[in-house]
Amino acid sequence: MQREPAEINLIDAFERISVQIFPTIKEGSAWAAQQIASLIKQKGEAGEKCVLGLATGSTPKTLYAELVRMHREEGLSFKNVITFNLDEYYPIDNDAFQSYNAFMQRHLFQHVDIDPANIHIPNGQLSKEEIKTHAVSYEKMLEEAGGIDLQILGIGINGHIGFNEPGSSIYSKTRLINLENSTRLANAYEFANISEVPRLAITMGISVILKAKKIVLLAWGPSKAAVVQKAVEGNVTETVPASLLQQHNDCSFIIDEAAAAELTRFKSPWLTGEITWSAKMIKKAVVNMALKLEKPVLSLTNNDYTEFGLGDLLIEQGDAYEINLKVYYMLRDSITGWPGGKPKATIPAHPERSEPYPKKVIIFSPHPDDDIISMGGTFQRLHDQGHEVHIAYQTSGIFS
Ligand code: PGA
Repeated sequence: MQREPAEINLIDAFERISVQIFPTIKEGSAWAAQQIASLIKQKGEAGEKCVLGLATGSTPKTLYAELVRMHREEGLSFKNVITFNLDEYYPIDNDAFQSYNAFMQRHLFQHVDIDPANIHIPNGQLSKEEIKTHAVSYEKMLEEAGGIDLQILGIGINGHIGFNEPGSSIYSKTRLINLENSTRLANAYEFANISEVPRLAITMGISVILKAKKIVLLAWGPSKAAVVQKAVEGNVTETVPASLLQQHNDCSFIIDEAAAAELTRFKSPWLTGEITWSAKMIKKAVVNMALKLEKPVLSLTNNDYTEFGLGDLLIEQGDAYEINLKVYYMLRDSITGWPGGKPKATIPAHPERSEPYPKKVIIFSPHPDDDIISMGGTFQRLHDQGHEVHIAYQTSGIFS
């Protein structure tokens, strides 16, 4: 049956993985916890084991806290649960604070009624010679357990899943891998300094992850927005390992609004459906087009609008010449000699409101001269225009 045009969801034309967006980490995590709890119960009622693939890092902490709460307050039992973790640093002592073995104990296992014999986490204490056999037997145990029913994933800012760094093949198996510097830097907060972050890790391969029956990837915060967009809307490529999840038939991304910001439906909503053309939206669309085409706003043509998917705007708002001028004036008016707002004037495009007057202003200066070198003019104006100006110098104290 042919679908009526109105039924076509234009978001699907861009997003190749199902995405659910939640206002907060708490709500997204609660949704994921609910999925896990239902599966555990459903398997339990059928007298079956529930095999979970688990992740570590800052992302799943709220999810684990919610599962622990459900165990304590709602009687969710983990007796029929078998777990396989994605990865572990190498080398590392299992009981080192930063090890993922210790992480899992701290955040989940020690708080619930899981049978310790059902917990599987790669072992970072083995010798290099032993790792190959360990990796093979890890996958074998997983297979014998019946495969992963539900795999939880995080995503690295470089697109890694597990510790499958860019370049990892879709056929990759459980193995030792070299960590990228960006990954070591992102994880350095758990260690005394970056040089203490292990250079290697053991990770479940991508081929193993893709065998899971269901995959739920979690991502929170603005630092993940760019990579989420690439994974969901970009081409399938080993340079963004998470994009390989497009090949899975039951994978969803559970993300918060900040992590969703780069998706076309938010970044360029005029491309994914009907929108109301507010002045702000027109400005956003036109500036975005000018930047992409590397043209001044005033040089954009009707043709540019049409080719850029902004044909609707021409129909609604007149031709390119007029829209260009409107946007140009909006941009011009945002430049002001009144950084603290112009008293008694209402100019919507001005970045700062006129009331209250005078204002209390605080300038943060990461280095004790940034206030003068980077924004001395603004500083002077704020002072001359009668505001109360304070500066916070953010130094380590070594200059005093
Ligand atoms: P994070 O890491 O949860 O600490 O952001 C995610 C990942 O690297 O997979």
